[in-house]
Amino acid sequence: MGRRQARFGLGIGIVLWLLLMLCAVEMIAGSDSVNNSTLEGLFWTSTKDEAIMRKSELEESVVGNGNNNNNDDEIEFSGGFSSLEGMLQWAIGYSDTAKLKEAAQDVQRLSLDELKRHQLEIKELMEKMKVPSDAELMQIAVADLNNSSLSLEDRQRALQKLLLLVEPVDNANDLSKLGGLAVVILELDNSNLEIRSTSAWIIGKASQNNPVVQKQILELGALKKLMGMVKSSSEEEAAKALYAVSALIRGNLDGQELFYAEGGDLILQDIMRNSSIDIRLRRKSVSLLADLVDFQLANANKQELPFLSNPFFLKNVVDLMSSRDLDLQEKALMAIKSLLQLRTTEALVLKDFCGLDGALERMREHFQQLLSEEYERDFVRDLESLHGEVKAIFHSKLEKGNMGAKFQEH
Ligand SMILES: *[C@@H]1O[C@H](CO)[C@@H](O)[C@H](O)[C@H]1NC(C)=O
Ligand SMILES: *[C@@H]1O[C@H](CO)[C@@H](O)[C@H](O)[C@H]1NC(C)=O
Ligand SMILES: *[C@@H]1O[C@H](CO)[C@@H](O)[C@H](O)[C@H]1NC(C)=O
Repeated sequence: MGRRQARFGLGIGIVLWLLLMLCAVEMIAGSDSVNNSTLEGLFWTSTKDEAIMRKSELEESVVGNGNNNNNDDEIEFSGGFSSLEGMLQWAIGYSDTAKLKEAAQDVQRLSLDELKRHQLEIKELMEKMKVPSDAELMQIAVADLNNSSLSLEDRQRALQKLLLLVEPVDNANDLSKLGGLAVVILELDNSNLEIRSTSAWIIGKASQNNPVVQKQILELGALKKLMGMVKSSSEEEAAKALYAVSALIRGNLDGQELFYAEGGDLILQDIMRNSSIDIRLRRKSVSLLADLVDFQLANANKQELPFLSNPFFLKNVVDLMSSRDLDLQEKALMAIKSLLQLRTTEALVLKDFCGLDGALERMREHFQQLLSEEYERDFVRDLESLHGEVKAIFHSKLEKGNMGAKFQEH
């Protein structure tokens, strides 16, 4: 019987050995990727107390209900180990290839019934070692975040976990069901800059392309706070906040109305016309503008917004075309392309007041020069083609305007 047990031990040893190797690899490589990990969940814990609890749970599952008569030099698997360390040591004992080979042969000698029984045991074991679901992980992170006795460090760690977890749409929906959105929004008031920035980032990710979550976050009153954060002197905080604002109001009528009511157009203008502001923020502000204009275009029955035909506002956008940052140039071109398609935009204002003709010409020359230097060739070619579209729309609109003027003269 002892021999049988030893053989069983060898069989399950391979499985456990592989499992442990997997654990080791996971622990080394996977500390940042919650979604991809299989066993990391066992080792990722929110607080020390919990680490201890989880470890003892694991040991209990490994120990099972067998007796531990390790009265032999060869540690025998008789249903379990007294500790994780014991299991590890035992598995390491089989880590040389000759022994593994022998073990594999032993497995083959087991009867079908025995094999089935062991299979079942292994399956049970694996189930007990099951990774917690994303929802469970989020619940832990939310509870930590909501626990006022935890340190700033723990709080930041919980936020980092949420940031990874919240990406899939289903998880974002779960986060709101768990009451997590409200907890994250509270952190926007934290005195710590990093905590505030990460919270804004989470809100942005959660509401990205998710009307349900957008609505909930808007109802919880986060937009106004985030808009205030856009004015932060920290570039990081301002960029994360503007990212969140954009994600929150993109394609969302209620969000956009609130945004305008809170002076969102002025915030965009202040960013666009100030060349000493961080370039990421300036790019984001023009992108958001283009989104807002596109939304107007797609909802043609809606009343158009006065600031979009304000000559000073338009001039700020045109002036961005002379930036030397190609990304910013691209976004400015896209915004102008959309603006030109609004019924209320007057081509003559763009020409005479904003100097769009001159800006387009300077941009063309810049692209020519970049192409001759073979700089970012593909991207510059794309920009050139976008530039061509904008120019064509602009001139067609100018002509229509002229025709309209002539009709009026007659
Ligand atoms: C908050 O964290 C402390 C310290 O880890 C813990 O003892 C306490 O149980 C937690 N409170 C709640 C409500 O989870
Ligand atoms: C956060 O903690 C408070 C008590 O401090 C509790 O009433 C509330 O339900 C908790 N919220 C979440 C989402 O855990
Ligand atoms: C432009 O931005 C800088 C940096 O954020 C700020 O200090 C300055 O006051 C701004 N200038 C204007 C005119 O708003």
